[in-house]
Order: sequence, then structure tokens, then C-alpha cells
Amino acid sequence: MPQGITEIGSELPGFESLVAKDARHILHPWADLTALGTSRSLIVCEAQGIEVSDSEGKKYLDAIGGMWCVTVGYGRQELIDAMRAQARKMPYFTPFGDVSSEPAAELAALLAELSPADLNRVHFATCGSTAVESAVRIAHYYFASRGRPEKYHVLSRVNAYHGSTYLAASLSGKVVDRTHFHYESAWVHHLESPAFDPDDSPVSAAERLGQLIEGMEAVIAGVGPENIACFIAEPVLASGGVLIPPPGYHEATLELCRRHDILYISDEVVTGFGRLGHFFASEARFGIVPDMVVTAKGLTSGYQPLGAVLISDRVANAMSEAADPAKPVFSNGFTYSGHPIACATAIANIEVMRREDICGHVRDVGPYFVERLRELRALPIVSAVRGDHLMACVECEIPGEVGPTAGNQALAHRVDAYCELSGLLVRPYENLCIMSPPLVITRGEIDRIVDIIADSLARAEHDLRAGKIR
Ligand SMILES: Cc1ncc(COP(=O)(O)O)c(C=O)c1O
Repeated sequence: MPQGITEIGSELPGFESLVAKDARHILHPWADLTALGTSRSLIVCEAQGIEVSDSEGKKYLDAIGGMWCVTVGYGRQELIDAMRAQARKMPYFTPFGDVSSEPAAELAALLAELSPADLNRVHFATCGSTAVESAVRIAHYYFASRGRPEKYHVLSRVNAYHGSTYLAASLSGKVVDRTHFHYESAWVHHLESPAFDPDDSPVSAAERLGQLIEGMEAVIAGVGPENIACFIAEPVLASGGVLIPPPGYHEATLELCRRHDILYISDEVVTGFGRLGHFFASEARFGIVPDMVVTAKGLTSGYQPLGAVLISDRVANAMSEAADPAKPVFSNGFTYSGHPIACATAIANIEVMRREDICGHVRDVGPYFVERLRELRALPIVSAVRGDHLMACVECEIPGEVGPTAGNQALAHRVDAYCELSGLLVRPYENLCIMSPPLVITRGEIDRIVDIIADSLARAEHDLRAGKIR
């Protein structure tokens, strides 16, 4: 809950005690530790369609889709029925070794059908982080099992976000998230952020692409291609601030990887499952077929935790052919890998997405969303608006003050707080308001989002002029 404008205040004893229990006992992901024990969390109790309600019954339009993940909207009976039916029939059994479940087998076949080219082999995980981590371990295994154990270094990028397990956090490249944890640095290398904003770039897209590819070639040469197992990349960097690489970047980086026998892992945890108008964006939007694709979030529309690595037959078969009879085990996986209830939910989710042509709907309303948001660039405290279909962000700056300074962050947080007061949830990050609404959003609801943000920006600007923000 953004602080600083109004007390949440409620007479309801249940509400107070929930807030108090939360404050006393939960250490939230990305909690502000200076407010541990005193923060007043927004307790979200109910959700329907694209709206959530808090413990006071106040409704909010959810412009963050839960956390980039609620795609088909809340309260979808098909998904609820699938969860219930699977829980009744067989809630859980081990996925290890040669034991499987009906929903896992069915879902794996469906994912193979939806994914590009020969990405026909699925390794299930529990979420995005464990899927990312598994993908990198697969790259390690692929080379080591074929007699090249020294080829284990990983290329990632500044501003990337790949998750919060040890390796996934080490792959992530957001400066603000580098706090007092320990990160792997000996064999994880961060390339320059590939962000390119045509509205605000001193160089052309082609020049920027040239610089980025030259930079990547230099890092590959420095580390030595014989030491590098894989490159991991989000097609559009999501949590880093909806950063879009220049045209041609994906093909050029894939080409470099191919030239140096480096596996390409596309992290489609956010961009997959319809957010950019396709089940997977890598091939359909960016013309590349990676060696592995990581998916999670929208896979179950957020109704259940699930992640998966889609692996090309080339990689999976090579690991199998190289298998050492003395050590044949692929020793990676989790108790809840491909949990049957989660897989059943994902199948129902895919059925809904196909039946309602949700990807087609995103291709229809996505450009309108970005176009409408871009109107906000006319406002004096908006320095940039970026987006691709249903992922977008508005960047706020005090006139004359550039970047995520303390003042600009306070300004953006004020905008977020006004949005929340007006019944709209956007995601504050540095000086950005990030949005990734459920994919079923209509044009009318997009207009409502834009109206509330415009009003919140105007109110924050008024506060700024009145000297109330600093
Ligand atoms: C691109 C990307 N990869 C991986 C992850 C990690 O997923 P999870 O939080 O499910 O572990 C995220 C989460 O936001 C993400 O945005």
C-alpha cells in the first residue's frame, strides 16, 4: 500500500486485525525493511473479472494482472472447475523418475503443439524462478555431458529480471535489486541493457543495434565462447521497466549464439501466454526459435503456481544420446514439478484462451492500449511512455530532473497512490508506473485506466508545484 496520502482507516475489527497480523508476521517479497512491523498492507480478499476488492469492500481495477499473470480474468468457472475436479480425482503424486500424471502428460503435449519448431520436450517446474534455474542447469548438463564441462558461463543483461532463487537473482540485472544478498558473479556476465526508445534516443535504431551486438561480441570474446553455455533474455524486459530492444536485436543475438555454440534461452515468463498477442512471442513476434523457452505466470493465468522449460528436441536428444550409463540421472526437479492441479488448471486456461481467441483480442486491443497511454506524454511530468500490446509503463520525472532520482521516485509513488485512491492498481517501480492488465480487458476499461492515470498525474503535478513532494 503506498504510504503518504491518507490512512487506509477502517472501523471493521476484522480488517484491522488482518492488517495487524500481516504487519506482525509476514516478511513480504520486496518488503521495505524500514517499515517492517508498521506497514499497512492492502489486503485483497475477492476478485472477479478484472477487478479485485480489499477487506473493506473497496473495488480496484487490476491494471497489473495480479503480477503480470492473471490473463483470462478472475473467477473463471472453467479454471475453478478444473482445479476442483483434479483435486478430487488425484491431488498429488510424485513426478519423479518414470511416474507421471494425466494432466502433466496432456499439458506437455499441448505446450509442444503451441511452442515454436522442435521445442517438444517439457521440463516442469514450480514457478518462473525454478524454471529459469532449471533451464540454465539444462544448458550446463547439455555441454558437460558431451565432454565440455568448462562451458558453463552464462550471459544475461543489465535490467533483466529472471526471478528470486539464488541463480535466477544472480542472472537478474536490476541495480536496485542488488542489495545485501550474495550473487553469483564468477560465471554470470551482464551485457548492456538492450533498451531502445525511439522517442528519446540520440542514435538510430540501426546504430543502437550495432552497438549492442558489438558489445555482446566483445563479452563473448572476453569470456571465451568455449566457456559460455547460454544466453538468457526476456524478449521485452518486463520488470526492468518494459524495455524494448531495437528491431533486429533478437535475430542478431540468436545468430551470435549459433555462431559460438551458445544455447539461447528465451525467458517468456511475462511475454508468453498472450501478453504480446501470441502464446509465445519469440517466433511469432521476433522471428527467432530459441533452444529453450521458459514459461510460468500466464500459463495458469495465475490460478496455480507452475513453471515450465520447453526444450528443443535437438538439445534434449543430445543429452539423452550422451547419457552416461554409470550416471544416467537428470537430477533436477521439485516435489511440485508439474503439480497435477496446476497442470489441469493450465489445460483449462489454454482451452479458454483458444475458444475465446484471447491472443487475437490482445492483437486487437493491445495497440489501442499503448496508443491511448502515449497521449499522456503531453503531460509535463511524463517523460516517457513505453509499451508493447498489454505490457506498458509510464515514466514520471520532475521537469529538469532525469532518471530514477529520489524526487522522481517520490513523484511516481504519489501517482500510484492517487491511482489506488481512485480504484486503480498500477505497479510502482522506481519512477515508473507499470501495467500489465488481464488480457480480456476491453477498450472501455482501457479508457478508464487512462482517465484515472491522467487524473492522478495531474494531482501529483499539483502536489509537486505546491512543494508537497520531495
Ligand atoms: C521475466 C521473468 N522471469 C522470471 C520471473 C520469476 O518468476 P516467479 O516469480 O514465478 O519465480 C519473473 C517474475 O516476475 C519474470 O518477470
